[in-house]
Amino acid sequence: MKQDFGKVAVLMGGVSGEREVSLNSGKGVLAALRGQGVDAHAFDPAEEPLDALKGFKRVFIALHGGYGEDGAIQGALEIMGIPYTGPGVMASAIGMDKFRTKLIWQAAGLPTPDYVLLDEDSDFAAVEKRLGLPLFVKPAREGSSIGVFMVTQVGGLKDAFAAAREHGSLIMAEKGVMGGEYTVAILGDNALPIVKIEPATAFYDYEAKYLRDDTRYVCPADLPAAKAAEIQCGAKKAFQAIGGAGWGRVDFLMDDAGKHYFLEVNTAPGMTSHSLAPMSARQAGLSFEALCLKILAGARLG
Ligand SMILES: Nc1ncnc2c1ncn2[C@@H]1O[C@H](COP(=O)(O)OP(=O)(O)OP(=O)(O)O)[C@@H](O)[C@H]1O
Ligand SMILES: [Mg+2]
Repeated sequence: MKQDFGKVAVLMGGVSGEREVSLNSGKGVLAALRGQGVDAHAFDPAEEPLDALKGFKRVFIALHGGYGEDGAIQGALEIMGIPYTGPGVMASAIGMDKFRTKLIWQAAGLPTPDYVLLDEDSDFAAVEKRLGLPLFVKPAREGSSIGVFMVTQVGGLKDAFAAAREHGSLIMAEKGVMGGEYTVAILGDNALPIVKIEPATAFYDYEAKYLRDDTRYVCPADLPAAKAAEIQCGAKKAFQAIGGAGWGRVDFLMDDAGKHYFLEVNTAPGMTSHSLAPMSARQAGLSFEALCLKILAGARLG
């Protein structure tokens, strides 16, 4: 039976660097919900005051990045008393911060690549030695691979730090884990089939994510069933450890020995036609429309 969701706002656009991706996500979600008979309307918080959300019964958050994925809009919706999709204020804020996410995972005994916070006074040679090469340098609070640099040469860390520093204030160096990149979508209490990402570039950079069409995606990923189940279970724990609920995506890396390491959580994953959560849902037998309805049905406060 179809649920009566009332008047629904699909939040898209916004002011972050991921505005264009969000508009794409939002358009797809809007069309899917309308196609299913939901009274859904586009709402761009960059163009309308949030006050105009009064009267909506639910919100589908298709925003990415700052103000959309970091707890800010979630806080506003809490105050307005309008249920919204995806994780709440705290999980959204933590998920936006790769450093704090890793602190929680370490405390919870969940595997994540070794890392070091950097500043101007860091002993760059010592960090290279500790983490080994290749290593990755990234702002802790950016997205879309913006400001992420791979260091492959001895002595390269200092320049990579300076380059990353232009994109954020909190910079970390992370051990390169080079045996493959994967993602697990979480929907309610379930982990969906694992997707393997095979970029044609050296790593899954901005170009590979949004501009090139030669990135390969394999779903379900070719992993032994027991290993896949173990990782799905771990991904759910990794999501829940930061307070995640509703839906989201947990990315992980595999080393050459077949050990997995959780990389980061996306609390408002992409919902474009090329996005990974819809791909994984399809593999689980859920159409894009069905996925949108399930996510919307999970909208809540608190
Ligand atoms: N420790 C690592 N080992 C191997 N590859 C890495 C590592 N860290 C980052 N990468 C590569 O760089 C890409 C971008 O890094 P990361 O996912 O940490 O940041 P982001 O994509 O900018 O964040 P978001 O997914 O929130 O947009 C990853 O998808 C992966 O290809
Ligand atoms: Mg990423």
